[in-house]
Amino acid sequence: MKQLQAEQLAQIQNADVHFGDLTLLVGPQASGKSVFLQLFKLVQDHGPITKTLKRFGYSYDQGPDTDGDPLLTLMFGEGMGAIWRQESVVKADGKAVDLSGLRKGNGKDQESVFFIPAQRVLTLDQGRPRNFDSFAALDPFVVKSFSEHLRQLMEKGLGGKDNQLFPIKSRLKEVLRDRIDDSIFHGATVTQEVHDLKKRIVINVGGATLPYMAWSAGQREFMPLLFSLYWLMPSAGTPRRKGVDWVVISTHSPLLLEAVWAIRMLQSNQGTGAYQKGLQALKASDRSQIKPGNTRLCLGSADIDSLDAFTGWPAIRSLLPKAANRPEPPPRWV
Ligand SMILES: Nc1ncnc2c1ncn2[C@@H]1O[C@H](COP(=O)(O)OP(=O)(O)OP(=O)(O)O)[C@@H](O)[C@H]1O
Ligand SMILES: [Mg+2]
Repeated sequence: MKQLQAEQLAQIQNADVHFGDLTLLVGPQASGKSVFLQLFKLVQDHGPITKTLKRFGYSYDQGPDTDGDPLLTLMFGEGMGAIWRQESVVKADGKAVDLSGLRKGNGKDQESVFFIPAQRVLTLDQGRPRNFDSFAALDPFVVKSFSEHLRQLMEKGLGGKDNQLFPIKSRLKEVLRDRIDDSIFHGATVTQEVHDLKKRIVINVGGATLPYMAWSAGQREFMPLLFSLYWLMPSAGTPRRKGVDWVVISTHSPLLLEAVWAIRMLQSNQGTGAYQKGLQALKASDRSQIKPGNTRLCLGSADIDSLDAFTGWPAIRSLLPKAANRPEPPPRWV
């Protein structure tokens, strides 16, 4: 799909998104970004979604009733069955999509959209990925389905020695593993152990074994993402899982915006000396340089205005038009 349009759907008045290699949806809370993304998933993957729902014994065949459409309730969650109203219009690549067509499904078995939901931390309850059926019947599909993928991944085993889940030599490129270790685990290892006769994930650090609830918040939040990377890149030599054409992820981090801003600026300066300089500056920006007094890496802060922080980055400043050469902002550390 190259374009998805939605009108009068939930709180969305009019959305018209053309997808690129990387598409960012940015907006205030509760503006409908996640609704739009789940709609994208439903339109793209209605075949495998309806099959999965049937496999787990859900029924969505009857048409809309007072609570709205049962397929929408199962997809978007309890209370969301009426978001697609009579006046709603959904178009994929310019062609109208209707709900009864989606309900019929199609022959496809495999999901092409890997959806990493905002509720991802909920999936690793007590250090065990929950299965599809352990959620409330009307929890959103993307949460249940994501959790079920993680569960299957763990059940199959990840190929690490001695039940190790991180680091694993055959998983992820070394440079990526090192980055993850540097910023999140700091030499600790993540393993699987049996506790109360059930497998669970633990961290081993300083001779101690810590259950999931005793990990740092950042470590807990990262674990579902690490599993996602394992899912998307089945081995160190495989850049991506076959059949998965899309990855959807939500974040409240402003860093992506800033990175895109920097990429755009580099693109617009392609072929110039300033471009070379900018690239070198990006290369040099590893975490060893993040220290007070170094204005090179002052990405951060809460909103798009923080892009101004880039003007304090000498190599980037040299790319900016004169008018944008503002006084250096104070560094804001991430
Ligand atoms: N007409 C409506 N129908 C359904 N939900 C609505 C409607 N208007 C507002 N909402 C609110 O929007 C929420 C869904 O919005 P969504 O999750 O897509 O927001 P978001 O843009 O992803 O926000 P966030 O940045 O907080 O994740 C619902 O949970 C509900 O609170
Ligand atoms: Mg959201």
